[in-house]
Amino acid sequence: MFCRFLILLLHLTGFIIAVDKGNFKTCEQSSFCRRLRKVKPDNTKYVLDLNSLEISDHSLEAKLMNTEENVQLKFLLVTLAGDTFRLIVDEYQPLHPRYRVEDALNGEPQIAKLELLERNKDAVSVKLGNNKATVKSDPFKLEFYQGEALVAIVNSRNLFEFEHLRSKPTEVDGESDVPKVDPGAWEENFKSHHDNKPRGPEAVGVDISFPEAMRAYGIPEHADKFALRTTGEGGLDPYRLYNLDVFEYELDSTMAIYGAIPVLYAHGLKHTVGIFWHNVAETWIDINNSKDVNVVSSIVNLVSGNKAENRVDTHFMSESGVVDLFIFMGPKFADAVKQYTTLTGTAPIPQIFTLGYHQCRWNYNDETDVVNVIDNFDNGDFPVDFIWLDIEYTDGKKYFTWDPVRFKHPLEMQHNLTATGRKLIVIIDPHVKRESGYFLHEDALSNDYYIKTKDGNVYEGWCWPGASSYLDLLNPVVADYYSELYSLDKFRGSTDNMYIWNDMNEPSVFNGPEITMPKDCLHHGGWEHRHIHNIYGHYYTKITYNGLLKRTPNTRPFILTRAFFAGSQRHTAMWTGDNAAEWSHLAISLPMCLSMAVAGYSFCGADIGGFFNNPDTELLQRWYQAGAWLPFYRSHAHIDTKRREPYLFEQDVQTRIRNALRLRYAHLPVWYTLFWEHTKTAEPVIRPLVYQYPDDTNVLDIDNQLLIGSSILVRPVVESRASTVNVYFPGGASQIWYDSEDWREYPGNGVVNIPVTMDKVPVYYRGGSIIPRKDRPRRAASLMHDDPYTLYVVLDENNSANGALYTDDGHTFAYKSKEYLYIQFKFKDNTLTSSIIDKDAHFSSREWIERVVVVNPPKGIKHADIKSKSLGTLKLETSYTNDERSLVVRKPGVSVQEEFTITLV
Ligand SMILES: *[C@@H]1O[C@H](CO)[C@@H](O)[C@H](O)[C@H]1NC(C)=O
Ligand SMILES: *[C@@H]1O[C@H](CO)[C@@H](O)[C@H](O)[C@H]1NC(C)=O
Ligand SMILES: *[C@@H]1O[C@H](CO)[C@@H](O)[C@H](O)[C@H]1NC(C)=O
Repeated sequence: MFCRFLILLLHLTGFIIAVDKGNFKTCEQSSFCRRLRKVKPDNTKYVLDLNSLEISDHSLEAKLMNTEENVQLKFLLVTLAGDTFRLIVDEYQPLHPRYRVEDALNGEPQIAKLELLERNKDAVSVKLGNNKATVKSDPFKLEFYQGEALVAIVNSRNLFEFEHLRSKPTEVDGESDVPKVDPGAWEENFKSHHDNKPRGPEAVGVDISFPEAMRAYGIPEHADKFALRTTGEGGLDPYRLYNLDVFEYELDSTMAIYGAIPVLYAHGLKHTVGIFWHNVAETWIDINNSKDVNVVSSIVNLVSGNKAENRVDTHFMSESGVVDLFIFMGPKFADAVKQYTTLTGTAPIPQIFTLGYHQCRWNYNDETDVVNVIDNFDNGDFPVDFIWLDIEYTDGKKYFTWDPVRFKHPLEMQHNLTATGRKLIVIIDPHVKRESGYFLHEDALSNDYYIKTKDGNVYEGWCWPGASSYLDLLNPVVADYYSELYSLDKFRGSTDNMYIWNDMNEPSVFNGPEITMPKDCLHHGGWEHRHIHNIYGHYYTKITYNGLLKRTPNTRPFILTRAFFAGSQRHTAMWTGDNAAEWSHLAISLPMCLSMAVAGYSFCGADIGGFFNNPDTELLQRWYQAGAWLPFYRSHAHIDTKRREPYLFEQDVQTRIRNALRLRYAHLPVWYTLFWEHTKTAEPVIRPLVYQYPDDTNVLDIDNQLLIGSSILVRPVVESRASTVNVYFPGGASQIWYDSEDWREYPGNGVVNIPVTMDKVPVYYRGGSIIPRKDRPRRAASLMHDDPYTLYVVLDENNSANGALYTDDGHTFAYKSKEYLYIQFKFKDNTLTSSIIDKDAHFSSREWIERVVVVNPPKGIKHADIKSKSLGTLKLETSYTNDERSLVVRKPGVSVQEEFTITLV
């Protein structure tokens, strides 16, 4: 939701206005960004004192001298498991402590043994696996090699800067400093807001260059293309990471929005390197991407023998904290993503029905409304698993309460819902209404739980409830207190089946600077808000996660968040915030979620239909069709929009929306299996083409297509009145892709112009894959648990295929005690074989195989034989369909628990 002040404007003008950019800083308006961006390549004042070098079995430590200001810094290079280096630079004895991030990493990283290669007075080199790091003394630099190839250089352009903490110069001292010190270094104004900076300048900046890289990806969250653009060119501001509630965010923009994950991948055809900037202060990142890959120059280079001039330069700049940089050595894109994701933790497998469809709106008005919506979904045969309540369900925006009139029987309402297999999700936001008698406010005041102003008074801002204060989540006592509020006896009217949506947790403060909290507000431990801003929302959702775990210990929590930081994927799903009912917003949801996925965060979606404004039916249908292929599938709408539940439209529109929903539900076994595999292997659930085909130059910029796992290729239609769309088929001529509706073949060697109707979504199965589906339509995922599978066996050129299926009870933690089935399917020599992958895991499933569809089948098949322990050998009927492009094997009837073979005869 967005700033209330603007609602009025909205009503007056009757249409949506674009983002008010003036509410948000540019780099030029931010003192530290100006200061660090002004650093020039002649800044060679940093020298590493190699005489002070200490070598342990996993680290190098030495003094890093700022020779101009005569300051000593502590340099540390650590070798970590998973081909990862970690560089830390901090002050030895800072005037005040400098903030070190806690809780983004999934525990302490595992160290790896370092091997000293070479040491002399100018440099020292160490080996880690197949990688090498060379640390140079003067000027200070670090070079990273994969094998012999130089792939990353830290301080390549001498832009490294570490502002040590200092006492405020008196007027007299100050004069000598004047030419160097930016006017905003000790205090700064933005619009009507004053930022008192008691600690003065404390910024850190590092430049990292990637020779040979052709593109950079990552650093979400931005409403921009997947491939990062060159900043500085045409005045483009650096990419900004500062969690903000941006009203009607602008597309194709480097502006900050709700979340921040400072991981970046520099990708070349041979090497990918990842960088994680472990810092939660406001951050700006300049990118210079010399995309010298046009055909002419590569031919010239080929002839002249010159190497193509590919290179990506980056410059990370943060307002405070320390330099704490992880370097992931790949060598492939997938390796670097895995290294990052393992460091910050994979997402645990969600409850299977959270992968179904979610119906949300600001607001469902009362209990009758909730009943009616669900009834109408049932009458129209639209599957749905969750209905959501936005802020109006509360008693006057006091969270953990219910509106006494409109939601008088929350328990009964939820029991009625769960009786239909559906569940409730309610919103809980971090702003606390300052109303006497409200238990939360009273508790917070009397126990001193609120964030303070710079003068030590309780900070008061303005948000949905009006005057609000904010809990100090850095205080573990407050975190405990708050997570307890989710217990059933505290949150009256809640049940074990109710889940939580955390919004506005950047935090959003309508009257604060840039619609957030002033940076000089004070937290537990003496930290200013500036030191921790980007992790506030993460702390908030972690408390919710712990609260739900305490409430219902054996059930996997579900939480949706708007703000996040690296590591938030361990607790929450996220969505792309307040988008609009425009084609461009539908289109941008793909690159936005792909950036999240490579940043370890697969559980991403965008509001179906667009939050602001009214989509026409064409856009709405396309959005349902596209959204079915992003991990989080929810429609949501602003309070001023027309109702748009699927049953409100003409029959043909209803049919298409129903088909999109059903297609999603049919593929739930695929999504669920991929989430399981993500948990175990850190592979993203959805993938950009470049992840899977890293050495194909044609896919570097493709972000209107995506892969679901490695086997399903989707090119959603995101253009109005499209009669055709271009689809790029990757993998080479011998890799065939099959249209998932009619099994027509498309070899993986380039772009094909595909005709589309309103009914058509280009979805392809990869030849060589086996895709388990549940094709019986149901009203909810929770009702599909025991349904039988259809296996789609899509053969490659060698008549073989393989795939996997994960299943368990769908919602508890019993999988942790090995109660699950993880099954591999293989097709080879005309025989489909199922085998249990994790032999020590067991789950007594009632699911079975009702059909096998072989795509691109061998000719002349008469029947099939199934063999298993309980069935013995049985003959099965087969028949060709789709002009012999597929063969259906009828009713194998075998339980998924049993290993079996089916041979085509
Ligand atoms: C990007 O790098 C190239 C090569 O070093 C340089 O010529 C160009 O000015 C840089 N562009 C920007 C916007 O900094
Ligand atoms: C729950 O269902 C019963 C039976 O249909 C109905 O009478 C009652 O009003 C429902 N309660 C709520 C709160 O929706
Ligand atoms: C098919 O088999 C040939 C020969 O073994 C092999 O080179 C080729 O990669 C295989 N194709 C696929 C798609 O696996």
